[in-house]
Amino acid sequence: MDENKPADLKDLIHRLTLEQKAALLTGEDFWSLPAVPEIGLRKVLLSDGPAGVRGTSWDERDPSLLFPNPTALAATWDPGRARQAGALMGAQARDKGVAWHLAPNANLHRSPLGGRHFECCSEDPLLTAEIVAGFVEGVQSAGVAATVKHYIGNESETDRMTYDAEIDEATLHKVCLPPFEAAVRAGAWSVMAAYNAVGGVTMTDNGPLLTGLLKDRLGFDGVVVSDWFATRSTAASALAGLDVVMPGPQGPWGAALVDAVRAGEVPEAVLDDKVLRILRLASRTGCLDGLDSPTEKTATPAATPDDAEAQLRDLAARAMVVLRNEPVGAAPLLPLDPGTLSRVAVIGPNASHLTAQGGGSAHVNPAHVISPLTGLSAALGPSVTIDHAEGVHTQRLLAPITAQTATDPETGHPGLRVDFLDAAGAILGSELRKTSRFVFMGGLPVGTSGIRVRADLAVTETGKHQFSVSGIGKFRLTVGAEPTAELTMTPSEDGDIVEGLVKPPEHRIAVDLEAGTGVRAEVVALVDPGLPIAMFGLHSEAPGSGADELFAAAVAAARAADLAIVVVGTTDEVESEGFDRADLKLPGRQDDLVAAVVAANPRTVVVVNAGAPVEMPWRERVPALLWAWFPGQEGGHAIADALTGAVEPAGRLPTTFPKTAADAPVLSTRPVDGTISYREGSLVGYRGYEKADTVPAFPFGHGLGYTTWSYEDITAAVTDSGDIEVLVRVRNTGARIGREVVQIYLTGEGVDRADPQRLVGFGATLAAPGEIATVPITVPARVLARWDADAHGWRVRGGPRALIASRSAADPRLRTRVEVADG
Ligand code: BGC
Repeated sequence: MDENKPADLKDLIHRLTLEQKAALLTGEDFWSLPAVPEIGLRKVLLSDGPAGVRGTSWDERDPSLLFPNPTALAATWDPGRARQAGALMGAQARDKGVAWHLAPNANLHRSPLGGRHFECCSEDPLLTAEIVAGFVEGVQSAGVAATVKHYIGNESETDRMTYDAEIDEATLHKVCLPPFEAAVRAGAWSVMAAYNAVGGVTMTDNGPLLTGLLKDRLGFDGVVVSDWFATRSTAASALAGLDVVMPGPQGPWGAALVDAVRAGEVPEAVLDDKVLRILRLASRTGCLDGLDSPTEKTATPAATPDDAEAQLRDLAARAMVVLRNEPVGAAPLLPLDPGTLSRVAVIGPNASHLTAQGGGSAHVNPAHVISPLTGLSAALGPSVTIDHAEGVHTQRLLAPITAQTATDPETGHPGLRVDFLDAAGAILGSELRKTSRFVFMGGLPVGTSGIRVRADLAVTETGKHQFSVSGIGKFRLTVGAEPTAELTMTPSEDGDIVEGLVKPPEHRIAVDLEAGTGVRAEVVALVDPGLPIAMFGLHSEAPGSGADELFAAAVAAARAADLAIVVVGTTDEVESEGFDRADLKLPGRQDDLVAAVVAANPRTVVVVNAGAPVEMPWRERVPALLWAWFPGQEGGHAIADALTGAVEPAGRLPTTFPKTAADAPVLSTRPVDGTISYREGSLVGYRGYEKADTVPAFPFGHGLGYTTWSYEDITAAVTDSGDIEVLVRVRNTGARIGREVVQIYLTGEGVDRADPQRLVGFGATLAAPGEIATVPITVPARVLARWDADAHGWRVRGGPRALIASRSAADPRLRTRVEVADG
């Protein structure tokens, strides 16, 4: 590090007044820190991840690349792929002028009910750490700050603003911290303080964890930013080590922080350190001009590459997991050979409606989403007839109105007209929009007190058509001539703000319409001028078939086909930020649908499109089962690539899939008297299953790929540094090229030496049929150490250990022993 660097940045700080310093420490709005031209500081833009880079508007007119969800990324067991995804996201951030990206999410899969499970990597601290570190390196290689969130103990959503996570010191260090620590070691430029409390102190006020552990012990030199609206104090949070309050311009710092400095409650040097950290981030991301000598090495700005969509497609397909592939007759169904098929039934609610991402702040607006139906039609080609049947309808809201079906009443152009109205109804501004779900967070014309949306629709079916408005607030919905009364729609009692965005209440009306006519739908959302935020939708649906007809049509299509592909899954209303899941069931009658389809046609392939585990009571009845995650915008093509073997779906589960929710070692996410106790300690995930002797539906690390492997030899040697160098020789015994992930588990730990095994390393190889490959895996000495709560430090207890090379936590293949020295 250049010795002059802090001095240069410090010179800049001395040119700022106290007021200017304080102004830099709270957002100027929802998504930026203010510019200070006198010192060459440009506006620093922030944007969510981790599904992509949304940018500063929530708008289909500013589309973003939509990536496979982070659990999918972790399913590659490949930090290099995480780096690639991070670099691509970083490049897109640069293109959007975003310097500070709000990803990755380094929290763990503690309970499968956790609402943001899909946004996290894994149940295992080591795998999460490796993926998160790769991602951070990738984002930052583009000169964009990565933000590791949510520090710490934010593994669930219920009462997330207030619960107190009770985590003992050993569990904190062994389980929760490693991913954050790895990200800091990878050089992360920002960390986000979570909403919840740990040890009775809310994270934005938590001095021992923000300053003591993160900054002092781990040496974090970046910016600690609050989660949005998390900060509740002035002096306490400033003194605890929080650097930036988001969003702004209101908030508990600002003038109150200036007063606190003047009153002697907060030393000005504390503000200087925060400003220094911001300037360092600005310098690292190219937002600081005018220093005589560049004091921080800024990475070369990247631009979104031309092959970005191809990269997303490839990444998504590689991450998919073949859970099951049993022979039907002579051979397994997968990979499909399109040449042998003439009629395929593509069934299920997610076949035409891919859930490409989960719900909440991670949401981005992709330019398109490829559905499995589209992807399969392209991959199977014109010689295969495809019969599509939804089978079960799982969308709670009516369908959005889009430019495909609606025209602007003013111009007749495809789309919907949005007018911003003042209190007297005069138009302050207008927009033509392509879809009817709206999120406005600031940025409305000054004086807006209503947002009116109008669309003209052609009626193609006679019967009862449904229309609805969704959202929270006051609305007037008008269809045709009859306006409804003013509607007041309120969130559920204990609902989170995000719940209103993702799972809003809906008010429906039914209108009789005749084919060949037209109808105008209009909604006016009333805006509170003090809170210029509006989130609402306008929806409609033609009469359509009843539930029983839909179901029967799907079963009939399956019966008539040579092969049925059923795409089931969750939705972004089921898996979302802001609330936890109530159970692990597939929504609607999807379980019945799978059972009925496989009974009608034994040649059935099931694809599950979900982020987090679901119960699959039919799993042993279906011959082929592919887990597709939330695969992002190219998902339909990626599913087709995976099913046909154009790309090997070589993913391995980064989390255990239970048979039933009750089998999960940690299930409840509901605080008891405001507290969530991490009393399971390190017995989370597969370690918890082993301890309880519970056999899951699919174990951690499981994934079949499209070839078979034999494990031939293992050697392990302890080096002078205490690391263990493991070599595992494997042979591809199948007929196709494939990628094998070799997992190293350690046993023989604990006082009684009977602790469940834990993952201590992994590596992968690509091998052709018959090829032998040796996979080198380093188990760092530090991974062998355990937290000694008495000494408050890491310690290796010497003695024998067994190392097991496995294909999954439940499929050990080779074993060796090493003698570990005390340390
Ligand atoms: C989420 C963060 C997110 C922030 C900004 C919060 O609700 O917890 O992950 O970065 O909003 O959208």
